[in-house]
Amino acid sequence: MNADPLSAAVPFYDLLHDDGHVPVIRELLPPLLAGVRHGVIEIGAGTGLITEVIARSTPGEIYALEPSLGMRSVLLSRLAADPGTRRRVTVLPCGALDTEVDEPVEAVVMISVLQSFPAAERAELWQVLARQLRPGGRLVFNWRDRPTPVPGTLEPVGSYEVGRHTYEIAAQVLGVAGESVTSRFVYRVRQRGVVISEDEVVSTNHWPSTGVLAWELKESGFTWSPAPEGMQVWHLPG
Ligand SMILES: C[S@@+](CC[C@H](N)C(=O)[O-])C[C@H]1O[C@@H](n2cnc3c(N)ncnc32)[C@H](O)[C@@H]1O
Repeated sequence: MNADPLSAAVPFYDLLHDDGHVPVIRELLPPLLAGVRHGVIEIGAGTGLITEVIARSTPGEIYALEPSLGMRSVLLSRLAADPGTRRRVTVLPCGALDTEVDEPVEAVVMISVLQSFPAAERAELWQVLARQLRPGGRLVFNWRDRPTPVPGTLEPVGSYEVGRHTYEIAAQVLGVAGESVTSRFVYRVRQRGVVISEDEVVSTNHWPSTGVLAWELKESGFTWSPAPEGMQVWHLPG
């Protein structure tokens, strides 16, 4: 039995996301970390695409937290290829609700991760993150309101040539219940048009409105700060 729910997605991850949210975050995140010198926690670091951006934007220590063994393995390979960054990135193999670092940090960054948390876990998440931040510390994440999806058929999401093979990702919305959306993802590799590998994953994500998130964060003691469209910055009192 494979306990890592993301193992089928890992080989496809950089192909898809280097072409998706990551270029936007490369542009929008660095100014939001301006002045941060005393440590950053990155929640859900994935394969390290955003860890690299944080490392280029801040001079201090980074705690890159990633529960998936597959994703974490790619992250560590990325760090192994960059000894300068490796010296100041500590990789934590746990989920966000177990975050605990030696000294409070100046910023928590969470890119394309929040949808993994159902409402009850988010209430705990904000408390956990607030405990890890210094007074005046900031929480930075990406979020935008999106139309409620409609269950439908399997649709292509991306297709990438790797040598003689084609890596294809397709997705289908299976069901919607309030803020929770259950989707099916199919990961295929083709050789000369013939499928030589196929994996399927069904997962549920949670998409509260920005209004709901704002209410939760205020309840947890955070204060809103201006940020570009698609990004959110919240501060603890100084
Ligand atoms: C879409 S990926 C984003 C990865 C990276 N932040 C990026 O933007 O490239 C979501 C990541 O969140 C991680 N994740 C899911 N649930 C989590 C949790 N409870 N705590 C921390 N990370 C979690 C997953 O393992 C996955 O690596």
